[in-house]
Amino acid sequence: MTKKSSQLWTGRFSEATDAFVQQFTASEHFDRRLYAHDIRGSQAHARMLAKVGVLTEAERDAIIEGLDAIRAEIEAGEFPWDPALEDVHMNIEKRLTDRIGEAGKKLHTGRSRNDQVATDIRLYLRDAIAEIRHQLIRLQRGLVSLAEREAATIMPGFTHLQVAQPITFGHHMLAWYEMLVRDQGRLEDCAARMNVMPLGSAALAGTSYPIERAMTCEELGFDYPSRNSLDAVSDRDFAIEFSAAGAIITTHLSRMAEEMIIWASPLTGFIELPDRFCTGSSIMPQKKNPDVAEIVRGKSARMNGHLMALLTLMKSQPLAYNRDNQEDKEPLFDAVDTVRDSLTAFADMIPNLTVNHARLYETARAGFSTATDLADYLVRQGVPFRDAHEIVGRSVRYATEEGKDLGELELDELRQFSARIGEDVFEVLTLEGSVNARDHVGGTAPTQVRAQVEAAKARLAAL
Ligand code: ARG
Repeated sequence: MTKKSSQLWTGRFSEATDAFVQQFTASEHFDRRLYAHDIRGSQAHARMLAKVGVLTEAERDAIIEGLDAIRAEIEAGEFPWDPALEDVHMNIEKRLTDRIGEAGKKLHTGRSRNDQVATDIRLYLRDAIAEIRHQLIRLQRGLVSLAEREAATIMPGFTHLQVAQPITFGHHMLAWYEMLVRDQGRLEDCAARMNVMPLGSAALAGTSYPIERAMTCEELGFDYPSRNSLDAVSDRDFAIEFSAAGAIITTHLSRMAEEMIIWASPLTGFIELPDRFCTGSSIMPQKKNPDVAEIVRGKSARMNGHLMALLTLMKSQPLAYNRDNQEDKEPLFDAVDTVRDSLTAFADMIPNLTVNHARLYETARAGFSTATDLADYLVRQGVPFRDAHEIVGRSVRYATEEGKDLGELELDELRQFSARIGEDVFEVLTLEGSVNARDHVGGTAPTQVRAQVEAAKARLAAL
């Protein structure tokens, strides 16, 4: 009686609990993304097991062919994913056994899902980084070609979003390019550091089978097998490092986005974004909104979130593997998608933007942007810089009252503030004179922009 009611109770409770726990702990609905890398790792493992005599050649061949068929099945959308089998690894292994029988059950000899998943994610991320790097380079090329096109285009340079000094549009594009060059370096560092093979670490301590890790390592394209099994199954530094690099990339893209949004606004009218990268308003027929730039700007928020999630996931985790690590995948996968797609959007859009030369020139001209050039002129006439600064400040106040730019004042008006000002001052008060004068490495002069464009093209051609 007791037993019966207990069984009834436990039957009902455990069934309900199991159903929930099963769903709560399952990861196949997201980690199925790893299927191709999981199969690749398993095939390498099977070849190695055959080489060391743990599998027969016939078993090895059955496993490899069975996994090829499963890959095709998954890609055709015909694979019977089963959440009850928890994750991608168990789904594929179970299917393999269903298809090829006994040999399938031998695949997992000498490994654990712990070294398996650690290997899979590294293989996956290595490919993902290669794709992201490709988009990053496309965007760099787009910026360089725009810089070349607009090397001598004058625009206002800003500090505090106030007109500061005239610069060239090409120089501004190359500033963005430099950010992306550093981003590429961070991605490449991350890819190089993570290219270490966990497979063979098994659950945490290694395995008693006579495995040949050098063989799987070479087949899977890793640089060397991990030197410590405890570290190898539990390390997710590479996911954090990738997300950090990704968060810096999306931060850079958000800065570019912000500028393009301001420049495309009628408030400045500096650029026109291609229609196909903008959207309209459902209510205001005149609107053309820079949504792609806004979404890219917004995407940086989730990237920062993923970086924080991964850091926090790893904080305080004891060695070796803990199931917490299953929580690395959704942030990592979304980080990959976010960085790749944001880069793709800008790589497509930026080379197609139209620059409004007249508006840029007018805004630079109206903003006293050559005031520093006037001060530098006075210094060359022997006036100490601080005094020159004061003289120019008074000239600007006067010009403001007169409703003119510095270059529009008469010589006599300028000479009220310093007798050292001569007719040649007008050469430095022009925008062209101002940018041309900044003719040193890193400066905004069109000659320097062209030199940097050539250097960038050579660098990109060598990639
Ligand atoms: N789905 C797991 C993960 O993503 C695979 C490893 C499971 N290992 C284990 N001992 N439960 O981390």
